Amino acid sequence: MVLETSSNVVDRVKSVKRDSMTNVTSSIISKLDQRLFSNPAHPIGIVKNLIYDRFRKFKNSNDEDFQCFDNFDPVVSVEENFDVLCFPSDHVGRSRSDSYFLDNRTLLRTHMTANEPEYIKQGHRAFLISGDVYRRDEIDSTHYPVFHQLEGVRIFDDQSITKTVGTDFPSPFNEHFAINYDYETQRGQDKLALRHVTTDLYFKLMGLMRHLFGENTPIRWQTCFFPFTTPSFEIEILYRDRWIEVCGCGVLQQSILKDCNAPVNGWAFGLGLERLAMILFDIPDIRLFWSQDERFLNQFQLEKITKFVPFSKYPSTFRDMSFWLNESGDFDANSLFDLIRQKAGDMVEDVKLVKNY
Ligand code: PHE
Repeated sequence: MVLETSSNVVDRVKSVKRDSMTNVTSSIISKLDQRLFSNPAHPIGIVKNLIYDRFRKFKNSNDEDFQCFDNFDPVVSVEENFDVLCFPSDHVGRSRSDSYFLDNRTLLRTHMTANEPEYIKQGHRAFLISGDVYRRDEIDSTHYPVFHQLEGVRIFDDQSITKTVGTDFPSPFNEHFAINYDYETQRGQDKLALRHVTTDLYFKLMGLMRHLFGENTPIRWQTCFFPFTTPSFEIEILYRDRWIEVCGCGVLQQSILKDCNAPVNGWAFGLGLERLAMILFDIPDIRLFWSQDERFLNQFQLEKITKFVPFSKYPSTFRDMSFWLNESGDFDANSLFDLIRQKAGDMVEDVKLVKNY
């Protein structure tokens, strides 16, 4: 569903009738209309636009015309977020401890993929979407219960597949995998089509990574698992001597595309915009993205990657806290983190368990 106005969503979420699944908090609701990605001079908006621009350029090279959208409703149904995307019924994302539920049928989307099938159904074949996503999580400098994702989809009709597939088709994954195409494939999928889809995905995303991180940053692909893609990959870059995952992607499940009445060959990818922005701008703490402080906001300029200059004059302090748990055994750490976020806002950088008696 496309959003009419952002304040609408706050009112709508507040007026939902609570039930036994409801766990969305007021501090989360207050984030629903902030739309950091719509501000072209905010690091999240700058990175988003860099990626949009990069994909728009493909049009000039006679490739697909990627369209960009970011006006989606963050409230989705359980079906849209999980069922349609083939999540198993016991997947932990479906639980109250991991996701923010409005009631037993609706939740705040946990990933932008939830908005994709609807667009595919409408006939879109190459598009990028971005928005805010919500996951209950621990408290530290790289996790925040609201963050932003940009996702892309491309679907090939039978013509565009056959036009490009030749017998000496390049196999770009050789560079990254010891055994070429040694990954799980979908049953019955046409091998040449699969090769075409993965190769297109590979070149598009390698082009994007080089564009964002420069020619010299080491990049590697790993196979992984997502319920809605097979094969699935993660792209990692070497940053300060550590491999950091920056993108998840893969070949869309044919069953999902069939249910959308679309051709069955296509790819999708998803990127976390905070993670990219933290690397590109040298931003050390994820809470800073929500700062209203002009010393933060005024540092950034349209379309430019600049290095963040720290500004706080207050040193950090540590506090110990101890408490009893009742004997019911239903304590869940994410609820404690939510309580701390409610009471202390973004003042708290990190919460660590010291001892459990
Ligand atoms: N939705 C996935 C995530 O949130 C990312 C992804 C998107 C992976 C599309 C594959 C294809 O991590």
